[in-house]
Amino acid sequence: MNVFASHHGRRFAAYHVDTVEFTADMPDDCIDLSVYSPPFSKLYIYNNSERDMGNVASNDEFQANYRELVRELFRVTKPGRNTAIHVKDLVYYSNSSERGDRGLYDFTGDCIRTHVAEGWSFHRRITIDRCPVREMQKTKSDRLLYKNFRTDAARTGGGMPEYILVFRKWAPGMEAVPPVLHDPALHPLESWQDLAQPIWMTDGVWRDTDETDVLNVRVARDEEAEKHLCPMPLDLTERLVRQYSNPDETVYSPFMGIGSEGYAGLRHGRRFIGTELKESYFRQAVKYLGEAERLGADGDMLAALQAAE
Ligand SMILES: C[S@@+](CC[C@H](N)C(=O)[O-])C[C@H]1O[C@@H](n2cnc3c(N)ncnc32)[C@H](O)[C@@H]1O
Repeated sequence: MNVFASHHGRRFAAYHVDTVEFTADMPDDCIDLSVYSPPFSKLYIYNNSERDMGNVASNDEFQANYRELVRELFRVTKPGRNTAIHVKDLVYYSNSSERGDRGLYDFTGDCIRTHVAEGWSFHRRITIDRCPVREMQKTKSDRLLYKNFRTDAARTGGGMPEYILVFRKWAPGMEAVPPVLHDPALHPLESWQDLAQPIWMTDGVWRDTDETDVLNVRVARDEEAEKHLCPMPLDLTERLVRQYSNPDETVYSPFMGIGSEGYAGLRHGRRFIGTELKESYFRQAVKYLGEAERLGADGDMLAALQAAE
């Protein structure tokens, strides 16, 4: 296996490596939880390497490569435990469509089918509310323009939510794996009711998730890389880590980017393993993971204080 570089903290290990090769080399049943955003099919190429999972000609080719990772993730996850992925449906345009039409590609559905085909049980879908005005300003998508709404609303779409898909490894040996336990003093009923919501709102009545709560993409002199990274919002990861793992357990992100999942995991007292193919992201991740380790794990205390308010 080609490990280009690695960095080991006290509670984390980060690897600059192809995640498919790396994960295939991990022992069985060693990961308590994985949380990550995969590359969104062929939407962005992060790296010219042919190992870059986004560097493919078609959505089918992406799923075929991704499936190899999903298979290995199933093997390395402890029985009864979960993997949580952050995805969305993808807009396609006439220049990339054989029929010359525009519409939505059901990336979310294909990811579900790939997991189920590799033995995972589809366990939960969380919808992440996203603001259509902010999306219009960012993407200038004609699906969101008021001009089109006035002239031919048949052309218009609507805001594109994101989703967290949670899968579970339903396999022999589940009873031998320790349960994920929550101390009611730290996690009262209200905090469970909060986590159990099917829609996590950005502008909501009951609780905000904040789409701007992301690690700063400070990847020097690589504006394209900054534009395309799509960092995983920290509060989403925090919620998943809190619900689906115990303190001191190991969280894995096979596509760690600049380290968001690890940052949130370490701040909540978990251990972290991450892999990333793009060198500049890997280096940035090592910095953020070191910072999280120095700051230490006060995440659960913060969550408890918020819940108690
Ligand atoms: C959606 S981004 C993840 C962003 C990350 N959640 C964060 O917050 O920084 C997907 C990442 O997968 C990486 N990637 C693509 N193919 C890979 C491979 N074969 N092995 C490891 N990383 C890969 C890309 O370089 C990119 O950083």
